[in-house]
Amino acid sequence: MEIRAIYPGSFDPVTLGHMDIIRRAAGIFDTLVIGVLNNNTKTPLFSVEERVKMLRDVTCDIPNVRVEAFSGLLVEYANQIGARVIVRGLRAITDFEYELQMSQTNKRIDAGVETMFFTSNVEYSYLSSSTVKEVASFGGDISPFVHPAVADRVYTKFGIQK
Ligand code: PNS
Repeated sequence: MEIRAIYPGSFDPVTLGHMDIIRRAAGIFDTLVIGVLNNNTKTPLFSVEERVKMLRDVTCDIPNVRVEAFSGLLVEYANQIGARVIVRGLRAITDFEYELQMSQTNKRIDAGVETMFFTSNVEYSYLSSSTVKEVASFGGDISPFVHPAVADRVYTKFGIQK
């Protein structure tokens, strides 16, 4: 039986930590759909179209990965696309409470969808999209944190020439 998973998130922008989880999850599930959240209450740096495009560009070499935008409830979207597993990354204990709350809420809404956690590679355990934006906004080097194509687009957003 084909197992399809969804890896949801804001991806504003996608980091090397996200990409590590994407590669590992794509190696386990038959299909991995990256679900880019469209109804974010936070104002993102990148539009949902830009985030989807960046993710498609940096995952184009992984054949069983698809990138789609979604809005509304995650479990409803998961059902719509036939995904029975939600993939989330755990970096540190600080992520745990929020992630546990989300997975239990999702389970309560739909017990048929499981959340599976991938512990992040120690190399990326400190990394977040927010810190990438913060470093870039001050003209710092973000090349250790994101794909080069993503770095260019982040600097452009902040009007920084590199
Ligand atoms: O990358 P993020 O911002 O940590 O991802 C959060 C995300 C997209 C997984 C979460 O906000 C989400 O699932 N939003 C959709 C709305 C929903 O289903 N909420 C109920 C779960 S608490």
